[in-house]
Amino acid sequence: MSQHILTAVAWPYANGPRHIGHVSGFGVPSDVFSRYQRMAGNKVLMVSGTDEHGTPIQVQADKEGVTARELADRYNRVIVEDLQALGLSYDLFTRTTTANHYAVAQEIFKGLHANGYIFPKTTMGAISPSTGRTLPDRYIEGTCPICGYDGARGDQCDNCGNQLDPIQLINPVSRINGETPIFVETEHFMLDLPAFAEVLGSWLQSKQGDWRPNVLKFSLNLLGDLQPRAISRDLDWGVPIPLEGWNDQANKRLYVWFDAVIGYLSASIEWARRSGDPDAWRQWWQNPEARGYYFMGKDNIVFHAEIWPAMLLGYNGQGSRGGSPGSLGALNLPSEVVSSEFLTMEGRKFSSSRQVVIYVRDFLARYDADALRYYIAVAGPENQDTDFTWSEFVNRNNGELVAAWGNLVNRSISMAAKNFGVIPEAGDLTDADRALLARSRAAFPKVGAELARSRFKNAATEAFDVVREANRYLAEQEPWKIKDDPERVKSILHVALQVVDDVKTLLTPFLPTSSNKIYAMLGGTGVWSGMPEVREVDEENRTYPIITGSYEGAARWEHSPLKAGLPLAPPARLFAKLDPKVVDEELARLEG
Ligand code: MF3
Ligand code: ZN
Repeated sequence: MSQHILTAVAWPYANGPRHIGHVSGFGVPSDVFSRYQRMAGNKVLMVSGTDEHGTPIQVQADKEGVTARELADRYNRVIVEDLQALGLSYDLFTRTTTANHYAVAQEIFKGLHANGYIFPKTTMGAISPSTGRTLPDRYIEGTCPICGYDGARGDQCDNCGNQLDPIQLINPVSRINGETPIFVETEHFMLDLPAFAEVLGSWLQSKQGDWRPNVLKFSLNLLGDLQPRAISRDLDWGVPIPLEGWNDQANKRLYVWFDAVIGYLSASIEWARRSGDPDAWRQWWQNPEARGYYFMGKDNIVFHAEIWPAMLLGYNGQGSRGGSPGSLGALNLPSEVVSSEFLTMEGRKFSSSRQVVIYVRDFLARYDADALRYYIAVAGPENQDTDFTWSEFVNRNNGELVAAWGNLVNRSISMAAKNFGVIPEAGDLTDADRALLARSRAAFPKVGAELARSRFKNAATEAFDVVREANRYLAEQEPWKIKDDPERVKSILHVALQVVDDVKTLLTPFLPTSSNKIYAMLGGTGVWSGMPEVREVDEENRTYPIITGSYEGAARWEHSPLKAGLPLAPPARLFAKLDPKVVDEELARLEG
């Protein structure tokens, strides 16, 4: 039965180019998942965009000497190009600085406010004496009042783990310019998180056995200490607060995280408008059968497993204060928060300022998108913090993609092309033939079940087991040595090509570019698995790029019997073999 599946992908900040650590968290996993779901016959809506408000943008804009808007324009374009080059199949990748997003974010705020889940409170806020601007909590450092650690931040102490307010820090200083902040009274809106404690608790409990255990454990832990949380900031860059007496204040804006998570909904609404059916988004947000999967790195869990669900519950009128749904109607909660752990780079934390980084753009200038996608899927931080090393990248590329898979495809197709020019007919099958065919067919439900649960490593490993079996089969059958039995050669190559065809299907979610090539080499016509496009749109007095695409290719998650007699195209290059010396070159770049 076909299901509506929302793939909600974390929104990258438009404050710089993205590196491979970022795309290993939200990017590749969400795309592998979405491509699989489409092949399985489900209706996928995959949305995201650049996150363009708040301090992260303002601070970088100051550094680069441009306005926040200019900075967002600059990096929105860079990020769009990079994510498209990686083959990420967004139905819509937009941005948070659109009129639609402002309207939807304000609607959610108003709904929460009307139901009583948002209230104003006077607090003490830190100000930079030199700029007069608010200093965000995590840009203030000082000594922890609880454990005495002297690198505590204004939001928490990484040494003892306690949540802090900046005003509690001993000797607070600004990380931006080292000055001592001053504290002044300021009024903010708070989201009443304690009003959702019960309903969030039972919602999370119902996910036992379903979510990744570390994600669920982390999320349940957060419930132990639910406090009202400020959802506005003293800042002039962001979504205005939609209440009288507030909306005309140049220096009060919604907190960037409050508006960003609403992006999943606003982007769905924007996608529906662009598709010509403005209500189409409701199928993914209001149909009780629809499922929503949210992809991100683990520093985002709190916002997706606690704050966003609380916002949705409050908008629906489902917290302890009751209420009724706002004008959009009741909205679905996430089905799963699929979070990755962290990726490190050759044993160190990614750091743009210290050059411990490889940007997606630079990576793709030197290596194929499929090679990076494969590495992230099989060796990425799916369940634990994981180190990226260039030597493992080269080893896996050369050993698995080139030697095992590429070579199987190449040998099978070139032998058949040379000897017969077409896909040969199979004669009587031997036990070995049948065993391999059965093994390959049986992989569909197995790999599919792993992909449906975002267990990408298991899925890829299972598919590669078939590759290894097929290589062993060819080594045993040695069709190149058979001189006097062309019918047997035909059968062997038919079996090999059938398995190549099966495996190209199994690997399509991971390796769409090379699977598309194999599809064509085996006589396929039209599009197999669609690739994303960048389209320029002209709206609100600006022109900017979005990612979209038509992903209704021929790809189906099933074994499809090869048609004997179809002409074979000579094999095209699938994967580039890497010279082991690129390891040293890349390490030298890192140090540089
Ligand atoms: N911009 C955030 C980050 O890079 C992620 C935002 S996800 C969203 O960590 F849901 F809030 F959009
Ligand atoms: Zn501490």
